[in-house]
Amino acid sequence: MSTTILLTGGAGYIGSHTFIALREAGFEPVILDNFANSHPVVLERLERISGRPVLLERGDVLDTAWVADVLRRHRPAGVVHFAGDKAVGESVAKPLKYFHNNIGGAVSLLRAMTTVFEDGSAPALPTLVFSSSATVYGDPASVPILESFPLSHTSPYGHSKLVIEEMLASLRRASPAWRVGVLRYFNPAGAHPSGLMGEDPADIPNNLMPFVTQVAVGQRPHVNVFGNDYATPDGTGVRDYIHVQDLAAGHVAALQALLSKGESFTVNLGTGRGVSVLEVIRAVERACGKTIPHVFAPRRAGDVAQCYADASLAKRLLGWEAKCSLDEMCADAWRWQSGNPNGYRG
Ligand code: UD1
Repeated sequence: MSTTILLTGGAGYIGSHTFIALREAGFEPVILDNFANSHPVVLERLERISGRPVLLERGDVLDTAWVADVLRRHRPAGVVHFAGDKAVGESVAKPLKYFHNNIGGAVSLLRAMTTVFEDGSAPALPTLVFSSSATVYGDPASVPILESFPLSHTSPYGHSKLVIEEMLASLRRASPAWRVGVLRYFNPAGAHPSGLMGEDPADIPNNLMPFVTQVAVGQRPHVNVFGNDYATPDGTGVRDYIHVQDLAAGHVAALQALLSKGESFTVNLGTGRGVSVLEVIRAVERACGKTIPHVFAPRRAGDVAQCYADASLAKRLLGWEAKCSLDEMCADAWRWQSGNPNGYRG
């Protein structure tokens, strides 16, 4: 069987870490990326870490004919679909961008996969791992969150993830040959332990961890803690931060399960542990040995008090569980941020 795996958006934050994890597990990943929200310098880093050249297909997942051509040339055993836009605030301001790139991108990829399967030029049954998000649970009625909880959306970004999950379910009903693993990520954080790869937000970070490490490195004066009056132990928002290395291992486990057992699934990828904003700040302080100034600010619109996973289904179905601690996550995030204060831009 082919060991080739196509990674759409493979040059991005989670895609690049998954690339390394796949190589370490004996797969041959191929990156498909248009670098809309990633930087080509990551390719050199991937080559340094893995010691081998990287296979790249540069282009847009929206170009169905080209994606079909890529699939015919590489004949992957499976595809991991990371490519997409992910900024919640931007999605509220520019919903059509999210519907076009995220929903349109998924439709384009699925049509290309269907074409090569139906014309016999694919080596395997259509096999897809999709990057979904805990955002599909909306404002959960309780925590920890099980996969069976009701689904909703609070932003066009979340809406796009939900529509894609529903499209995949319809496709499987219509064509049982499809093998689909939907991974609902909680809060990815941390970086590669080498310090060579990490999260590289193009603008002011929306997410907590890169914001805190940018304050630690002196690029921003203080962290705004959005709300200290939530019904949580210290009043600040509680989330399930998962090391990007654990997340990468989750993709390897998902592909291995799809390829060996052939059964589709939808699972949470989280640690099952809720951590507050103040706990994150204190953990980054331990990692960098500095005090991180913070001020309390009003709640951010659309935020929920608590969001953390029940991660038992992924353990049962995939034999996967998160291993890294919050301190490891912060140490790796700090190593990346302090060694690359401007990310991949030098
Ligand atoms: C956000 C998105 C979510 C997306 C996820 C992963 C929103 C409303 N939700 O989730 O859809 O799937 O990122 O990319 O944007 N915080 C601060 N100060 C900051 C930044 C964050 O106090 O400068 C707090 C937030 O209020 C929250 C926690 O830190 O309590 C985590 O925030 P963030 O990293 O943005 O993730 P989510 O809000 O969980």
